[in-house]
Amino acid sequence: MKWERKDLLGIKDLSGEEISLILDTAESFLEVSTRDIKKVPTLRGKTIINFFVEASTRTRTSFEIAGKRLSADTINISASTSSLVKGETLADTARNLEAMNPDVIVIRHSCAGAPHMLARLVRQSIINAGDGAHEHPTQALLDMMTIRSRKGTLSGLNVTIVGDIAHSRVARSNIYGLNKMGAHLTVAGPATMMPRDIRELGVKVSFRLEEALQDADVVMMLRIQTEREQRSVFPSLREYSAFYCLNGDNIQRARPDVLVMHPGPVNRGVEISPEIADGANSVILEQVTNGVAVRMALLYLLTGAIE
Ligand code: CP
Repeated sequence: MKWERKDLLGIKDLSGEEISLILDTAESFLEVSTRDIKKVPTLRGKTIINFFVEASTRTRTSFEIAGKRLSADTINISASTSSLVKGETLADTARNLEAMNPDVIVIRHSCAGAPHMLARLVRQSIINAGDGAHEHPTQALLDMMTIRSRKGTLSGLNVTIVGDIAHSRVARSNIYGLNKMGAHLTVAGPATMMPRDIRELGVKVSFRLEEALQDADVVMMLRIQTEREQRSVFPSLREYSAFYCLNGDNIQRARPDVLVMHPGPVNRGVEISPEIADGANSVILEQVTNGVAVRMALLYLLTGAIE
């Protein structure tokens, strides 16, 4: 199939074929990052602006590396060093960036829908690098790439997502994507961390970690999104970890070859014990490596280099 979208705003609207095309393209770029000279001329002359209005380590760095490995010119803007701090609106900022004629604008914003607004305002391709508690499509794509490369397929796998489902854009994008690709999804966490519409998203819901881990092929642990919570959703971190921390005991319920995943940043000892985060089943750093390839694939597809 041929990529036809101007923007990558979320997983919800993508078809299974589009997801497969992105993952196949990402796999073909994986090798570039293993070379001595990690650069191909594919996007020479293209300009990519990484506009991060919210903190990031992995996503921002990997978009910058992805652009550079494709020979694009990449420019990073953060909220604190932009004129947003002087009161300029996001819309005016976007129009000014558009006037400089970049090819792609990558945006992370704490407000759900900010990338969608930009996509309507400017003619350039917009990539959503995480918008509030809504979607984090590139994270879900790198997660699906990691699972597919390890398990050979996504279809039929038992995937368990644990933690702060209500505030997690990673959970939402993965639920949309993995459902389309035929995985069986279970989400687990305290009732106060479940979105009201959770059962409409095509997942099994469990409030007990041990039950949710039974026969899991993949377990994704999530950080508690304290920056997005308006009220306390559990009594204390100690109590949360007593019930929902993945550790050497409860992981025995999962399949022996279970993949342990985490989008990062990890809070060791809260949602995952250090020995499991660093253990033989963990693919957490492989997710980060695959993130560069997924972002290379998206920059390539969106700039129309496939023509
Ligand atoms: N997974 C993720 O989005 O990490 P960062 O917040 O560091 O980009």
